[in-house]
Amino acid sequence: MNDLGRLEDLPADYREDLARLNLVPLWPNLRTLLPAGHPRPNTRATHWSYKALRPLLLRAGDLTPIEKAERRVLVLANPGHGLERMQASAAMYLGMQLLLPGEWAPAHRHTPNAVRMIVEGEGAYTTVDGEKCPMSRGDLVLTPTGLWHEHGHDGDQPVVWLDVLDLPLVYYIEASYHVDGERQKVKPGRGDRAYARAGMVPTPVFQRAASAYPMLRYPWANTRAALEGLAAESSAENAIQVTYVNPETGADVQNILAYRALMLRPGETLRLPARSPAAVFHLIQGAAEVRIGEQSFGLDESDTCCAPGYAVVTLSNRSAASPAFFFVADETPLHQKLGVYEQRH
Ligand SMILES: [Fe+2]
Repeated sequence: MNDLGRLEDLPADYREDLARLNLVPLWPNLRTLLPAGHPRPNTRATHWSYKALRPLLLRAGDLTPIEKAERRVLVLANPGHGLERMQASAAMYLGMQLLLPGEWAPAHRHTPNAVRMIVEGEGAYTTVDGEKCPMSRGDLVLTPTGLWHEHGHDGDQPVVWLDVLDLPLVYYIEASYHVDGERQKVKPGRGDRAYARAGMVPTPVFQRAASAYPMLRYPWANTRAALEGLAAESSAENAIQVTYVNPETGADVQNILAYRALMLRPGETLRLPARSPAAVFHLIQGAAEVRIGEQSFGLDESDTCCAPGYAVVTLSNRSAASPAFFFVADETPLHQKLGVYEQRH
């Protein structure tokens, strides 16, 4: 590969003339923009320990009342992007959010899509588009783009959840904004009950649902049962993984990020292929090791880690007696829609 000319090789007066006319020479930047063979991601393999962050999150509950925070969140920021950018990967934002008993995080809606994976506590709920979704550990609750949502808490212990948003991407394309609203009126009916059985969808008077987001809550009890059912049906060499889908279309639940759950059998090691999208692994239950390229992290319950795209990821269950359960978020729908999706080996 030829060495290309550098910026400092050019005379100062020439560079000044270019800058004055808002012009930039391409060749000194060409290899950075188009590196050879594969990208050079800013996203770094990063691990966030729940045990380490939990006291700091609870302390935020003492330091900052909900009225002064609106959303009381510690952002899981990837140092490869710079902490101030508050992003886990190019397209993913992660935050640990705390809601204390009796608190209310007021209604708003925004262009980025969000989901919440509930980490601990009982009694909180998210009202999304008028549907009151209870939040229990391991549940996935969607707040898709444009839908009103607010959080309340009728329980007596702190509730914590992991927020995953496509905020960095939506912000990057200069489409990120929010609108504040009034407390929502709760409507009767819950999507997780209407779509409780796989293979069947409601069709009142032969009509399929018109909603783009017919199911907003995916209870952990169902996800876990699906994984265990799959494990009972599969031979030992088959991975046990499910994807959260829109039950009307079978497509990913949101347009930009995909959400999945994965089970490792006792003692199982699973090598995932190198794929172009970055991925986030959050351990719902068990004890695991996650190897990302040359780095290795021990994950305890409720720990989270992030892998850049094009990295080989190997997941291992550290227990020989119990299964391990992961929640996975990744940028696959985005890469597929843009036509840049790749799986290498
Ligand atoms: Fe929100």
